Amino acid sequence: MLESLLNPQSVAVVGASTNPTKLGYLILDNIIKYGYQGQIYPINPKAKEILDHTCYPSLTKVPGPVDMAVIVVPAKFVASVMRDCGEKGVGAAIVITAGFRETGAEGRQMEREVLEIAREHGIRIVGPNVLGVINTTNSLNASFAAGMPEKGRISFMSQSGALCTGILDWAAANSLGFANFVSLGNKADMDETDFLEIWHHDSGTDVVIAYLEGIADGPRFMKTAREFTKEKPLIVVKSGTTSAGSRAVSSHTGTLAGSDAAYDTAFKQSGVLRAHSVSELFAYSTAFAYQPLPKGRHVAIITNAGGPGIMATDACEKKGIHLATLAPETVSFLQENLPAAANCFNPIDVLGDAYADRYKLALKAALEDPNVDAAIFLLTPQAMTEIEETARAVVELSRDFDKPVLANFMGAKEVAAGNRILGEGQIPYYGFPEEAAAALARMAEYREWREQSSESLERFSIDQERAATALLTAQKAGRLRLNEMEARQVIAAYGLPLPKSQLALSVEHAVRLAKEIGYPLVMKIISPDILHKSDIGGVKVGIKNEKEVRVAYEEIINRAYRYMADADIWGVAVQEMVKVGKEIILGVTKDPTFGHMLMFGLGGIYVEVLKDVVFRIAPLSRAEAEEMVREIRSFPLLAGARGEKPSDLIAITDCILRISQMVTDFPQIVELDINPLFAYEEGEGTMAVDARIVIGE
Ligand code: COA
Repeated sequence: MLESLLNPQSVAVVGASTNPTKLGYLILDNIIKYGYQGQIYPINPKAKEILDHTCYPSLTKVPGPVDMAVIVVPAKFVASVMRDCGEKGVGAAIVITAGFRETGAEGRQMEREVLEIAREHGIRIVGPNVLGVINTTNSLNASFAAGMPEKGRISFMSQSGALCTGILDWAAANSLGFANFVSLGNKADMDETDFLEIWHHDSGTDVVIAYLEGIADGPRFMKTAREFTKEKPLIVVKSGTTSAGSRAVSSHTGTLAGSDAAYDTAFKQSGVLRAHSVSELFAYSTAFAYQPLPKGRHVAIITNAGGPGIMATDACEKKGIHLATLAPETVSFLQENLPAAANCFNPIDVLGDAYADRYKLALKAALEDPNVDAAIFLLTPQAMTEIEETARAVVELSRDFDKPVLANFMGAKEVAAGNRILGEGQIPYYGFPEEAAAALARMAEYREWREQSSESLERFSIDQERAATALLTAQKAGRLRLNEMEARQVIAAYGLPLPKSQLALSVEHAVRLAKEIGYPLVMKIISPDILHKSDIGGVKVGIKNEKEVRVAYEEIINRAYRYMADADIWGVAVQEMVKVGKEIILGVTKDPTFGHMLMFGLGGIYVEVLKDVVFRIAPLSRAEAEEMVREIRSFPLLAGARGEKPSDLIAITDCILRISQMVTDFPQIVELDINPLFAYEEGEGTMAVDARIVIGE
């Protein structure tokens, strides 16, 4: 079936037209004009011949087999054409037609019907609402794009057809070629993950770039992307990052955009390189498509002017790319061969009066240096600068080395011819040094991701039944929010340490429990009707003796009835008062696209004011949980700032992993907060002081 899509032996255009202003004409014209070698069948009940090809009144009248159908008839006829496809044994259909899900309920219903017919006959659909599909390897341009991209090793998919045409035009101006070019549209059937699977095994595709507005199946995408990116880079622009943007997305293709934090972390966890704009997408695409990956993070900068060299250095350092310390032999070679005023250390400054030969000598010496993993080549157009000659030298030299070379010829008009030579010679070139530094940093980051071995998930031995019972009790009672006792059961079942706590049903009972647990104590009202206990005076802390227990009990109960006369009061919890540790917040929310998202941060002002929290999608490996802990800005406070002892990082990581296991085991948990989780010094563990759990409908 997928062969039918990318490598069909025969293609029919249903809705082909004799009218050159109609899409049905343009698509047929593109298929013929760009040299597709298979059978081509225009389908139109009114015409005998279109563009010198015999026209058939319907698909079923075509004499030979039809592998692929491009459908360009009005929406209301698409279902019946799809039935013809089924009868004819068509393997894949590209539905160009708009007017489906993106227009509302009626369109959604039509789309569902079309999909059902396709599924019944095993037909794969691209679209509806697409520009089409282009495959340069067999010269098939089944789209109404205004041109044909050059052959190349990048495959591209886009949820916006209009963006496709923009990218095609940009690529043409920048000599960037493509293997496949796919407009995804409404993704009724084939989505981004299907194409990732195809391109994973496609020897013609080395890099995939994508513009996405939403992801159909988050967990499936993450799993596929994780495997894909271990072999090939995947660069994605995901739009709709602001809430206003998200609304625009819903009205555009009717996709439910997940929250941006979830996309960020899902991409990070699956090795997807996120570009934040189309210009970044371009910047990274050329780097990944043209150049080898750097073996490390050490760069040599070659320049003919000091200022740009310093700017490039700053930009690199900011992105975690360091200036290589040149080997002594390189430095002495440069000292012998460059003018006395030149800088022979990194950044290598060949001076403003450098002709191409001086540049060439410096770049070659840098690339030969074993301490250098990559080169950024800067040029400013000065009176004697041989721009084109220098560009040619960079192109030639870079071919001899397995190290990436990225260029920034500063300026626009003067350097245009040089940039063209760089582009044609597959040297990524940028308008500014910061862009080159950013692209190099992404390449280094990607290489590190590829080298990371995938860790298997750990499982703690826990008491799943105890958690299940507590969850079921709440569910049966119709409570979505677990009460404190139930939440404690679930947390305890997953092995997180909790303060000792017992429910007292009377004053005397409270006194007995206090003796058992030991002073000092905390006492709290337990009632399904009272959620914010402290607000109504339902919590007393620092209780030191029996007398205080009695007073606290009466007061708590009285205040509860004063708050709500008919409150359902279960009793008063008598709880061990634990020593205070570093306040941590551990949380879970359920993202509609990717599922459970874990949150970690320091509690109190760190979460409320500084929003110093990080997210990951569950389930997590230990390395991911450790990375999470280290990622917050206030990590030095946990690591032991100002002579303080470090906190128990292993115990904190264990808590994150146990929660990850909990929400994986119990997908009905939609929200969880452990706030605070006290973290004690190294070796002394943690304590989950307060927990809140909410389950789904
Ligand atoms: N089988 C074969 N041909 C059929 C047919 C059928 N069942 N039903 C209609 N046709 C023919 C028509 O006769 C017409 O040919 P003609 O010019 O010789 O008369 C041709 O198919 C097209 O039909 P028409 O009614 O003229 O529609 P159109 O060309 O104005 O519009 C679409 C059709 C699909 C282009 C239009 O509905 C549409 O969806 N446009 C938006 C496309 C788009 O933007 N997609 C997303 C891009 S990102």
